[in-house]
Amino acid sequence: MPDLAKLVVCASNATSQARAQALAQALQVPCCLASETLAAQAQWQLQVAPQGLSLQEQASQAVLRVDFLGGAVAHRRRFGGGRGQPLARAVGLKAGYVPTVVDATAGLGRDAFVLASLGCQVQLLERSPLIAALLEDGLCRAAQDEEIGAWVKARLQLQHTDACLWLQRLSAEQCPEVIYLDPMYPERQKSALVKKEMRFLQALLGADEDSGQLLEIALQQARRRVVVKRPSNAPPLHKRTPTASISSKNTRFDIYPTHLKQQP
Ligand SMILES: C[S@@+](CC[C@H](N)C(=O)[O-])C[C@H]1O[C@@H](n2cnc3c(N)ncnc32)[C@H](O)[C@@H]1O
Repeated sequence: MPDLAKLVVCASNATSQARAQALAQALQVPCCLASETLAAQAQWQLQVAPQGLSLQEQASQAVLRVDFLGGAVAHRRRFGGGRGQPLARAVGLKAGYVPTVVDATAGLGRDAFVLASLGCQVQLLERSPLIAALLEDGLCRAAQDEEIGAWVKARLQLQHTDACLWLQRLSAEQCPEVIYLDPMYPERQKSALVKKEMRFLQALLGADEDSGQLLEIALQQARRRVVVKRPSNAPPLHKRTPTASISSKNTRFDIYPTHLKQQP
């Protein structure tokens, strides 16, 4: 869980102050103007500007922002390999079949965005209030875009909630076809291959210690399959051997079919 005691919400200027105050209240942390001393003293700053939210770590000056319109995410949407890419194959996407997906560990929403760009209806679940705020901000900006806004609005829905609780409350009719899990993996921390953003998330959130429990709940609630993203050299989550795996360079998608159990 993030140590919100070290966080302040900073408004870039007076125009952003009302939004900053609302966010600070929701996160129960102090609020100030970016120019005030309190901002410089905080370990983490959630900066609120007219162009959106960004999270800055003071020591490293690293900045985290959810941006679906530019950078690596936009590049992956255009050139990422469409339905042939490992993530799409792992959820079972193919011509004539587009599953409904619950992304139970939404994070910065990149995997969910890829699946939605390929036609999936994706429910995103994120329990960290800070990450959920950044993600909601990125989704709102993407929803206003001329090119992708219509399908972003129609296919990506975010809930700030704990996925274990949320999934357990679903009735049989509400259960999604696929539940996708990408919990934080602690040993990635030492790897030189860990991307900057992922290191940032690890420093902020720590490991997802209850991911084994989440997998067990997901296996009960997915109508067709659960897919777990793992680093390629990591053991299967919760020592559950998958039925199949799809590997890419640094990542493995472990697949657990569930439909046999669900259909009598
Ligand atoms: C490695 S990140 C996911 C990255 C994501 N796949 C992406 O493409 O950006 C894991 C995220 O899952 C969230 N998480 C872990 N367990 C959760 C749970 N039980 N309910 C909701 N969110 C959870 C963490 O807070 C963290 O933001």
